[in-house]
Amino acid sequence: MSFHSNIDYFYVYYIPWIYTPVRTVLAIWHQLTKTEIPELAKCSVLMRERSRVEETIHAMQRAGAGNLQVISDFDMTLTKFAHNGKRVPTTHNILDTRLLINEDCTKKMRELLNTYYPIEIDPGRSAEEKLPLMVEWWTKVHELLIQQRIRKDRLAQAVKESSAMLRDGYKVFFDHLEEQQVPLLIFSAGVGDVLEEVIQQNNVFHPNVHIISNYMDFDQTGVLRAFKGQLIHTFNKREGALTHAAGLRELQGRPNVLLLGDSLGDLTMADGVPEHQNILTIGFLNDQVEERKELYINSFDIVLVKDETMDVPNAVLRYITSSRDNK
Ligand code: TMP
Ligand code: MG
Repeated sequence: MSFHSNIDYFYVYYIPWIYTPVRTVLAIWHQLTKTEIPELAKCSVLMRERSRVEETIHAMQRAGAGNLQVISDFDMTLTKFAHNGKRVPTTHNILDTRLLINEDCTKKMRELLNTYYPIEIDPGRSAEEKLPLMVEWWTKVHELLIQQRIRKDRLAQAVKESSAMLRDGYKVFFDHLEEQQVPLLIFSAGVGDVLEEVIQQNNVFHPNVHIISNYMDFDQTGVLRAFKGQLIHTFNKREGALTHAAGLRELQGRPNVLLLGDSLGDLTMADGVPEHQNILTIGFLNDQVEERKELYINSFDIVLVKDETMDVPNAVLRYITSSRDNK
């Protein structure tokens, strides 16, 4: 599904009547897909409007790293969906260990997952229809977890023993953003304490990382007694964006946004960015690919089909943050 064949390439460069500025524009355009960001030619990459993606990436590159912020979902976006044919646990599922919860709780959480996850990803239902059901799911799970009197001092061990896994190339992603002093907002409907532990254990919890998530509230003895603040689920991220993200000082004055997500609800994570100029959205399509492909292509600028790596976001970031002087 390459955009230009080698024959086009030949044609454009060697026909003498092509007016020079036209040739220059075509050359830059060609370069972006062919050489600057060859990852965009991967067969797992789908785009509704390639030319718009290219224009946006160019505009973001011209504005530079100083005008950029990255907003990313966590579960199944920064973490893998599956590894060697096995599902990788989400932050909620990392808690499913005898270190923290009993057998009965495991059984109930799995039943809830089997009931509500198919609803979360059902392309036949609207976000409005899903919203109350997601509240139901999260509320029931959080109540179960609170009943288990989870101990804070066992979380690190639970993460260590789990098969939690960030996507291949995660280190380049986190390290590059830190080097370029680009803030990364991780916006997750998962469990914040577990999320922090995962990135900490992978040595990428850098100072430019900011997190909005569901945080556990422990009593003085370190036992879970509640969850803090307003509940965040997959379909109310817009509210969180307006109330929390909009107030983050580190994100201010950065009108260009690279947004990464795996759910359609993640698209609202940038709704709190005031006077945004360019927003480029990348969606990981992990599950129910055929059923959701069209919807994803119509919703995200770039769709990555069953791609367990950070290769494309890393390549786009490398390009956007490359200095104009080097071009
Ligand atoms: P995210 O916003 O970081 O992607 O986290 C939300 C994901 O967590 C969502 O896709 C569903 C998943 N989830 C579970 O795997 N188990 C649970 O018990 C709950 C409530 C959510
Ligand atoms: Mg997710």
